[in-house]
Amino acid sequence: MSRVHVVASILAADLTRLGEQVREAVAAGVDRIQVDVMDGHFVPNLTFGPDVVAAVRRAAPSLPIEAHLMVERPEALVPAIAAAGATHILIQVESTPSLYRAVVAVREAGAEPGLALNPGTPVETLRELAPHVSMVNVMTVEPGFGGQRFIPTSIEKLRRVRHLAPELAIEVDGGIDARTAPLVVEAGASLLVAGTAIYQHPEGVEGGVRALRRAVSLTTP
Ligand code: DX5
Repeated sequence: MSRVHVVASILAADLTRLGEQVREAVAAGVDRIQVDVMDGHFVPNLTFGPDVVAAVRRAAPSLPIEAHLMVERPEALVPAIAAAGATHILIQVESTPSLYRAVVAVREAGAEPGLALNPGTPVETLRELAPHVSMVNVMTVEPGFGGQRFIPTSIEKLRRVRHLAPELAIEVDGGIDARTAPLVVEAGASLLVAGTAIYQHPEGVEGGVRALRRAVSLTTP
């Protein structure tokens, strides 16, 4: 994936007007919308389910919708999330002993699978399933909440991911803003998930997306 893709995470959106906020992100030119699905067990937060994925799909009918499953037993939820309209589904490698079955379930449901690694999970965990997915999400914060501080050691981890699985598109997620974006792109990231940097930007959604694109324009070839 040559150009850098901006992915708007709705976790930081104003949920009293979610449809509007999704449409603002579409109008601002984001490449993908991310829905953080959290079950209150795998992570200490409880967020969205298939109905919200379906609502986001209605508000952004032509964009890829990425569901990030931060849940226990993700394979059980995959069919409903895909049926709701998710085009990409991220499985946390720590969330199920049946990781291959979860990846196959995503493909069988008609979505594109990706793997997500928490900050404390070694890159080596990717090795066996890298040939079965197209992307990896390297969490640059501990999952569960938006607005956290970027973990600086993520940059060196990105380089090791790129070395271990050069064919995978690398997504970063958590604390990505105009300051950290060029650092992660230089280290190999090509998909930038941003919630706070987009939805809490002083110049609004369009300003947030513009600031991210401007920040990386100097690093991408
Ligand atoms: C954290 C989520 C992130 C979050 C984005 O658990 O997975 O996607 O919504 O974080 P910020 O707000 O830092 O961009």
